Amino acid sequence: MVPAAEMRGITKSYPGVLANDDVSLEIRKGEIHSIIGENGAGKTTLMNILFGLVKPDRGSILVRGSKVDIKNPHIAISLGIGMVHQHFMLIPNFTVLENIILGQEPARRGWLNRKEAQKAVMRLADSFDIAIDPQKRTEELSVSQQQETEILKALYQGGEIIILDEPTSVLTPQQTTALFRLLRGLKSQGKTIILITHRLSEVLQISDRITVMRGGRVVDVLDIAQATEEKLAHLMMGDLEWKPLTDEKTAPEKVIFRVENICLFTLEGLPRLKNISFSIRKREILGLAGVAGSGQKELLEVLSGLRPCTSGKVWYRNRELTHLSPKERREQGIAIIPDERQILGLILDFKLKENLILGQHHRPPYCRRFSLNYHRIGANARRLIEEFNIQPSNPELGTAALSGGNQQRVILARELSQNPGVIVASEPTRGLDLAGRIFVHHLLYHQRNNGKAILLMSSQLEEVLELSDRIAVLRGGEIISILSPQDADIDRLGKLMTTGRYL
Ligand SMILES: Nc1ncnc2c1ncn2[C@@H]1O[C@H](COP(=O)(O)OP(=O)(O)OP(=O)(O)O)[C@@H](O)[C@H]1O
Ligand SMILES: [Mg+2]
Repeated sequence: MVPAAEMRGITKSYPGVLANDDVSLEIRKGEIHSIIGENGAGKTTLMNILFGLVKPDRGSILVRGSKVDIKNPHIAISLGIGMVHQHFMLIPNFTVLENIILGQEPARRGWLNRKEAQKAVMRLADSFDIAIDPQKRTEELSVSQQQETEILKALYQGGEIIILDEPTSVLTPQQTTALFRLLRGLKSQGKTIILITHRLSEVLQISDRITVMRGGRVVDVLDIAQATEEKLAHLMMGDLEWKPLTDEKTAPEKVIFRVENICLFTLEGLPRLKNISFSIRKREILGLAGVAGSGQKELLEVLSGLRPCTSGKVWYRNRELTHLSPKERREQGIAIIPDERQILGLILDFKLKENLILGQHHRPPYCRRFSLNYHRIGANARRLIEEFNIQPSNPELGTAALSGGNQQRVILARELSQNPGVIVASEPTRGLDLAGRIFVHHLLYHQRNNGKAILLMSSQLEEVLELSDRIAVLRGGEIISILSPQDADIDRLGKLMTTGRYL
């Protein structure tokens, strides 16, 4: 059978980096094909080329056997290729329907015929068993709903080949199961799926075939029958030194961070956070588990000072932080690792070295009498790039040029290098490859032992269970339980998160 798509000899270089090096890829019709590889291996670049977002230096592309020139995404879409990006591309204040039909409006006498468009979208959604509310604004959707909207959009545009770049890194395990059900449904209706993910267990669950990339090259293509987790990990990164978390765990000390009765109401008077209280001791990691959309985002905004709470107090040591700005909180020793790194964490137009001092740029040693000390800024960048293994290692590079996982490393490096007393980390390992994830776990553990109080918000229950001293369960904007990891396992936590009850 003619492959659905073929990429031959694709090469793409950026200054100092060969992002894709003579890559060939064959995608068969009706298969779920996973592409895996470490951060910066070239996965997104390859898919951006297939979708017409990036122009390769060399190489050719065939779609259903014919050679094509995919100069831009419009051409990709007209060829039946759709893409759900690593960072969502929906317009927040548009409705679901508007986002889906954007650029594709069925016109009648030049006007958009909404009714017809809505019917068509709903028919499509039904046929793939996707539940959506077309009139809802996109900004009110949970990430998994946003993702479904993006998938539906790709289908609406006639997508036969759907590319998903790390769709599961923003999902909870339950949502991932639902997404995989949807992908299998698409497959059974003859669609072809290309999936990028860092989670090997998922790769083994869903793929028909797997392409492994490393340093811009394809190192192997496997049928699912030949693949095991060890084999894939080895192909991706060679021999990984596997250090378990063996550091002796020191005992937590006195409470240094406290949140008292935080309530948050929206402008319409809807409660988003209800009476949230918890405390974290020095040398303690408090894990926060919860289904996405249970109030994590709002809590992060309140703790970072981006959004005032309606009532309640935040304390660090003996100081009340409730009314301090994000900058003042940072100066007090609160570090925030946000999950929406491109919005809250980084300025993509800035250089790598500049992002590494963001928030400290106005004070010594980086700034004295209004002039920046480039020597210190450069030295800081070189040290952090090395310590956090940021690739490419050029401090002068624009941050937009970094791969997703490497952008995450930049935020971690910056926030943790300021020697904070409290670390609020939301999805700290999102988008990181296996080695990166292990590195961050060690890092947080080490920070804990060094006397920090850490709030770990994560949708990865394994991560929460492994690292936390205590686990708080957030449900519907409320903390419904705080338990010790000994009393919890994944099933139990999952039940508690979804039903509010243990069993
Ligand atoms: N616009 C760009 N300018 C310069 N370099 C870039 C650009 N886009 C990507 N690169 C570089 O190309 C290489 C491959 O990046 P790519 O985003 O394809 O990696 P990835 O496999 O998707 O990684 P991740 O798992 O971290 O998302 C990286 O070294 C990256 O820094
Ligand atoms: Mg990527």
